[in-house]
Amino acid sequence: MALRRPLTLPRHILNGACSGVRSTVSRTALTYVQEQRKGLATAVPPVTQDATGSKGPTAMVFLNMGGPSKTDEVEDFLSRLFADGDLIPLGRLQSYLGPLIAKRRTPKIQRQYSDIGGGSPIRKWSEYQCEEMCKLLDKINPETAPHKPYVAFRYADPLTEEMYTKLLEDGFGNGRGGRAVAFTQYPQYSCSTTGSSLNELWKWRTRLEGRRANGDMQPSGALQWSVIDRWPTHPGLVEAFARNIEEQLKTYPEEKRNGVVLLFSAHSLPMSVVNRGDPYPAEVAATVHAVMQRLNFSNPYRLCWQSQVGPSAWLGAQTSDTVENYVKRGQTDIILVPIAFTSDHIETLYELDLEVIKEANSPGVKRAESLNGNPIFIQALADIAQKHLRKGEKCSLQMTLRCQGCKSDRCLEQKKFFAGEKMSSLVV
Ligand code: FES
Repeated sequence: MALRRPLTLPRHILNGACSGVRSTVSRTALTYVQEQRKGLATAVPPVTQDATGSKGPTAMVFLNMGGPSKTDEVEDFLSRLFADGDLIPLGRLQSYLGPLIAKRRTPKIQRQYSDIGGGSPIRKWSEYQCEEMCKLLDKINPETAPHKPYVAFRYADPLTEEMYTKLLEDGFGNGRGGRAVAFTQYPQYSCSTTGSSLNELWKWRTRLEGRRANGDMQPSGALQWSVIDRWPTHPGLVEAFARNIEEQLKTYPEEKRNGVVLLFSAHSLPMSVVNRGDPYPAEVAATVHAVMQRLNFSNPYRLCWQSQVGPSAWLGAQTSDTVENYVKRGQTDIILVPIAFTSDHIETLYELDLEVIKEANSPGVKRAESLNGNPIFIQALADIAQKHLRKGEKCSLQMTLRCQGCKSDRCLEQKKFFAGEKMSSLVV
């Protein structure tokens, strides 16, 4: 498989929110009430923001890496991805090597996206999940309603700057105050994923809402940000994974069911990142353990890692090798469980379905459904958001701690900003 070629990218790497129409307050308020009655909550009145007013509206911003919706977006996607030193550290050669690698990779990755239907479904799912979560939040947390859904991708449209511009157009920030929650859609924290998205958000916040000449990062009326930075063992997330596994287990004959191996698969990390102290491997393992606990440890299981590429050392064992080895040993009943993604994307639809499962050539090797539009999962998102809004915290305590080996001033400044005045002294 192409996975082992040098200077190729990790697969997950390679691989509208709401409208802000401005009209009169009475017209849009009426529309909003009518839509609420119809159970639609995505079109909310334009925000006439007043930092001293009620607690709503609240912008709910989903952060994720994104993916090209069409094959002709692949090169731009790869160019941004290779330019991200948080994800692919190429050192001083980043701006030179990045575009070269992106160009070289484009035709092959375009073919992969063609094979899964012409583009990534991640935008469709992210927008759907965020909109549905906001509808639930309007009901269960009316004190911060209306909740307005936004999506910010790191490498594809809608990019962070596009989302931030929309926020400002919709009436948030820029002297008008208001509240926004950056909600990572990576359940387990890594500095190369959530950390990278937060670095980007912090950059655009500084550019678009402006650092004052005196260096003040919190000018009056600026948008107030808080962050949901990780949720690896939330019971609703665990339940959604467990139900999908149980559904797939039912497809095996009853007498064989307990012998099916559950193979949890997450995107790998270079060992240089792991050894720097990145929290991701431990948090992924925590999710796996919680899911197995919920399943009452009904099956043998392993955690393995996919999409590692290039000549350097990556966290293993690799998913593809694991399946190959187990099948060779006669263990031909295996369910692959993507445990670190919240929707389908090229790593599930192409790498697992069209490579790993196809190459296993055994009808007992299957995959559990991705979370996608799963209502249990969307309810979990609303629960996580509600608890965050009620708690009133800026971010988790865990986010204040930098990796042991981190030497990045950007990480330091970003964390101090999101930790807020009270907790910034904890950032080390
Ligand atoms: Fe992890 Fe900077 S690399 S905090």
